[in-house]
Amino acid sequence: QLSVREQLYEILALTAKFYEHALAQPQGHGALNYLLHDRQMRPEIIQQFQLGYAPGGWSTLHGYLVEQKNYPVKLVEQAGLIVPRKENSGYYDRFRDRLMIPIWDTQGRVIGFGGRALGDDKPKYLNSPETDLFDKGKTLYGLDRAKAAIAKQDCAVVVEGYFDVIALHAAGITNAVASLGTALSQYQVKMLLRYTEHKKIVFNFDADGAGVKAAERAIGEVASLAYQDAVKLHILNIPNGKDPDDFLKIHAAADYQKLLEVAPRWLEWQIQNVIGGRDLSKAGHLQEVTEAIAKLLGSITNPSTRTDYIKECAEMLSLGKSWRVRQLEEDL
Ligand code: GTP
Ligand code: MN
Ligand code: MN
Ligand code: MN
Ligand code: MN
Repeated sequence: QLSVREQLYEILALTAKFYEHALAQPQGHGALNYLLHDRQMRPEIIQQFQLGYAPGGWSTLHGYLVEQKNYPVKLVEQAGLIVPRKENSGYYDRFRDRLMIPIWDTQGRVIGFGGRALGDDKPKYLNSPETDLFDKGKTLYGLDRAKAAIAKQDCAVVVEGYFDVIALHAAGITNAVASLGTALSQYQVKMLLRYTEHKKIVFNFDADGAGVKAAERAIGEVASLAYQDAVKLHILNIPNGKDPDDFLKIHAAADYQKLLEVAPRWLEWQIQNVIGGRDLSKAGHLQEVTEAIAKLLGSITNPSTRTDYIKECAEMLSLGKSWRVRQLEEDL
């Protein structure tokens, strides 16, 4: 007799196969074409990532799991795959007419799905709800496939989207994982640190407004680790608002590797952001920047770490003079 958790794993694994199968059927042609042509994905990559298709009906998966396979309807609901109807009794499939991306835990078991709309349907991405097996803040998409490369290269790359992970892996950059549309948590960063010896992590979020905000929030989450050098955090922004998937459609993997190599450390990235378009030779601008940096460093509690960072910031701003350092200290 299987436990509830074991049955949930079984249902989700079976569902991934069901979606994979549907992608190869006539009903999945649109989705398959989207992957092969619009997204220029090679068939072996589609297979490797177990991409699939959720058919358009209201109870296709329900019919398969409950009627054909005799799983209790409550368990299928608990797996996040069907949703109870508000008015009448009964259920409908959560994912309909979507491209399906299975999400695995670190051991490679399916624990949920991301579902991408094929047309202009909203939302663009519909994800599994949190369940007994699926905790978004404790999951990184692709980690089961990336963990060996992360350990080998002693570096992890964190991107925003499923397709960014898939494109990077397809290009041979296999140390990439994605957060799941939620803010990256300290827990997730610590998961990555388990696999790296020297704790190098690169955030490569989209170079759009949302991506820069996501990077800043994520830095906030791990600042306490970064200040102590418990994580060597670098930030990569691809120019022109592109994400890694877009970039790799027109550039070679080696070009991406180059960007990774020159990605600035988080503090330098933040200082560059703070400086923005300001002209530091103007006293007013310099004052603004100094205050903003003082705010950045305000959360460092350890006095000697704080002094180190203040010195470093002063140097970055070419403020080698001690009075500048004093001014930063006063602002803190
Ligand atoms: P593509 O257009 O398929 O390349 O998507 P993308 O991954 O580039 O999407 P985008 O940069 O807009 O968003 C990055 C990530 O945020 C996605 O991979 C999703 O995980 C998440 N996301 C984007 N749109 C939505 C949405 O409408 N709902 C939810 N829940 N998550 C979303
Ligand atoms: Mn984006
Ligand atoms: Mn976008
Ligand atoms: Mn994107
Ligand atoms: Mn994209």
